[in-house]
Amino acid sequence: MNIVTLEQLVKIYHTRMRRGNITALNEVSLDIEQGEIFGLLGPNGAGKTTLMKILLGITRPTTGQVVVMGLPPGDAGSREKVGYLPENHRFPSHLTGMGLLQLAGRMCGMPTSAIKGRAEELLAVVGMDKWGDTKIRKYSKGMMQRIGLAQALINDPDLLCLDEPTDGVDPVGKVEIRQVLEKVRAQGKTVLLNSHLLSEVESVADRVAILSKGRVKRLDSVSNLTSRQLEYEIEADVGDRFIEIPEEIGKQIAVTANGMRVELKKKEGINYIIDELRQRRINIYSIQPVRLSLEQSFFELVQDQSTPGGTQGTGGAV
Ligand SMILES: Nc1ncnc2c1ncn2[C@@H]1O[C@H](COP(=O)(O)OP(=O)(O)O)[C@@H](O)[C@H]1O
Ligand SMILES: [Mg+2]
Repeated sequence: MNIVTLEQLVKIYHTRMRRGNITALNEVSLDIEQGEIFGLLGPNGAGKTTLMKILLGITRPTTGQVVVMGLPPGDAGSREKVGYLPENHRFPSHLTGMGLLQLAGRMCGMPTSAIKGRAEELLAVVGMDKWGDTKIRKYSKGMMQRIGLAQALINDPDLLCLDEPTDGVDPVGKVEIRQVLEKVRAQGKTVLLNSHLLSEVESVADRVAILSKGRVKRLDSVSNLTSRQLEYEIEADVGDRFIEIPEEIGKQIAVTANGMRVELKKKEGINYIIDELRQRRINIYSIQPVRLSLEQSFFELVQDQSTPGGTQGTGGAV
């Protein structure tokens, strides 16, 4: 079942400044299915926040169709089932963490009697149980993100929208946030995760859309995005030898620390390689398909395109 359906979504911002009109989203069509963690990945300015705001009903699309849980975006009926952690949020700093969660509970119409218990439960879920009585102004960036995640979960939403949730969060916190998202998914709920950090999306998302300059460049499962067809890593005592392989079978493309890497024409070709190595009495320990990290896959994708750009920065950010 689709929780979100976007069809031919276009968003043009009209600005009075010299930049003129900005096409933030250009004919974006995608579905988000119930129970998945869907990652929206792309460099800064790609249109991720705009897309999320449109499906929350905060921003209106210029043209195109948006359906959220069977309703138009921002409809009261769908809004109460959605949780949202905005990018660069500024929660009232005079509130304590507990105070913020109680405010969030009241704002989404929860009965007062239920709010405190739920807030305490969520403080524990995000690892903030010792900090509930501390004012937000004393929180670090990572603590702000944790409390932000907790307020997004206050109404036990069916769809959780997180815009750059791990911004400023330390590595331990990142793992903990990932565990929270996995728990949410295990309850059959859906998560939309915006991020410019490949490694983060890769570790948690089921499917990923790569957005660049307002367009979806690719939409696929993480495993499809990262598997490369017919390349195998063979762990074997080949030393630094290159094994001669007939062209119709494939070729050895590298000598590696533990063996060799081959590229085959057909999957069955692996048998030829095994026979060849065994005939030479070379020990084989393992054979594995080569997987690319999402980062490599993304850069290959961008490089494949004749149009320039889309990438910004290195080291895990796109
Ligand atoms: N309110 C706005 N007015 C004008 N331009 C905007 C506005 N919001 C975003 N943009 C522009 O739209 C493009 C996409 O922005 P955004 O959706 O924030 O991307 P991302 O979240 O991927 O960084 C950028 O070029 C940005 O400058
Ligand atoms: Mg953004």
